[in-house]
Amino acid sequence: MQAHAQKAALQFYLDHGVDEALVDAPVDRTKVKEKPAVVAKEPAREQTAPARQSYATPPQQDVLLGASDARAEAVKLAQAAKTLDELKDAITAFDGIAIKKTATNLVFCDGNPKAEVMLVGEAPGADEDRQGKPFVGVSGQLLDKILACIDLSRSEDDPQKAVYISNILNWRPPGNRTPSPAEIEVSLPFIERHIQLIQPKVLIFCGGVSAKSLLAIGDSISRLRKTWHDYTPQSLPGEASAIPGIATYHPAYLLRTPAQKKAVWADMLQIKAKLAALRS
Ligand code: URA
Repeated sequence: MQAHAQKAALQFYLDHGVDEALVDAPVDRTKVKEKPAVVAKEPAREQTAPARQSYATPPQQDVLLGASDARAEAVKLAQAAKTLDELKDAITAFDGIAIKKTATNLVFCDGNPKAEVMLVGEAPGADEDRQGKPFVGVSGQLLDKILACIDLSRSEDDPQKAVYISNILNWRPPGNRTPSPAEIEVSLPFIERHIQLIQPKVLIFCGGVSAKSLLAIGDSISRLRKTWHDYTPQSLPGEASAIPGIATYHPAYLLRTPAQKKAVWADMLQIKAKLAALRS
């Protein structure tokens, strides 16, 4: 095949979301007749995260072997981290999550750690994986515009105007699939410790996965929006004072459903009002 044809074929794959090589050698599936060869070494991947009531106890149908050990290890490592650097090192060292092997970079945070507002998204995508920073792709650009509407920015030095950003998962799920319950389970202690170390005045749960995971509620994002929730960590033992948190639609959803921008504008106004009330 000519080079330009190969490039066009690769671009075609990329445009259709095929951006991950799962086996070393190509497989000619047109040659497979009766019994298809088993080529994927990884377990079948879940496409959607089912609604769950709580992450406090690891689910029995966990897809990872030894998931409860992995969760216990994650809790231990997260609790031991006393600074953001230690937490980042702990996540890097943690081997209980398989997607660490397929990801290019750890995606830990962006923004000002002194910010009064912390936003938690779902998981890194391809752009974030490449750059090692959350929300740097198209949805990140929209997110920046949304936050700017209420005078918040991740590049602000002033804590009252700054935002700090992270995700439930620190590694990119291959093909941008939805994180599985098992992955959320073992990642939760880390993001909960992350929130404890930042101590924001207000939390924004960006998208359904973030809201449901951190609030341990199975309700849909449209039900969880509009009201303030008292967030307390569920995976880390000990007393913690509640942080007011609000859920909003994920910018990736807004890109597909622009009509919901109105709803997100309403959420932003609620955040602005809450911050003003907390400061007065
Ligand atoms: N979507 C997310 O939820 N997080 C990112 O960092 C990027 C896209």
